[in-house]
Amino acid sequence: MAQGFTVWLTGLSGAGKSTIAQALARALEERGLPVEILDGDVVRQNLSKGLGFSKEDRDTNVLRVGWVCQLLNKHGVVSIAALISPYRDTRAKLRTMIPRFVEVYVHAPLEVLIERDVKGLYKKALAGEISNFTGISDPYEPPENPEVVCHTHEETVEESVGKILAYLDAQGWLSQD
Ligand code: ADX
Repeated sequence: MAQGFTVWLTGLSGAGKSTIAQALARALEERGLPVEILDGDVVRQNLSKGLGFSKEDRDTNVLRVGWVCQLLNKHGVVSIAALISPYRDTRAKLRTMIPRFVEVYVHAPLEVLIERDVKGLYKKALAGEISNFTGISDPYEPPENPEVVCHTHEETVEESVGKILAYLDAQGWLSQD
């Protein structure tokens, strides 16, 4: 059984992390790989239920998910995490915890995200109805050396997924033996 790997999607809310996670999972499953998605919105309803958005709580959330990712990897399962994971030092810790760690920066300009506002949260954050909202009233530290960058305002989901698959293929991680 081959060791799994973790694709860690980081970026602002609404940048496209969940969409890319789902499309990537399908592409990997088509290649016969076992995959699990850990999505921030879902994780916060169970594994991280009760955690808020302070730095401490976000770090707890991120490291908890990282721990699950490496457990899955150990058993040959590919993990795809879609979390804002705003802090660089915390993402650096993930890299030390997870042997095959692929950091993907899912990026679109803030104006585009405010315009998209899929969940209506930017409007609320800008009106001061949500405090500590990432990108508006809370920090986001972009990755300095991510393995892959997806510019979701100028590429299709297929193009973004294609970039990630190309990286994984170059590592030799897409063949099952
Ligand atoms: S993280 O910072 O701990 O990595 P995570 O990805 O789990 O964040 O959760 C982010 C999601 O929570 C957002 O997509 C949004 O739906 C919701 N959310 C609610 N309040 C906030 C907030 N203050 N900042 C960012 N996201 C928030």
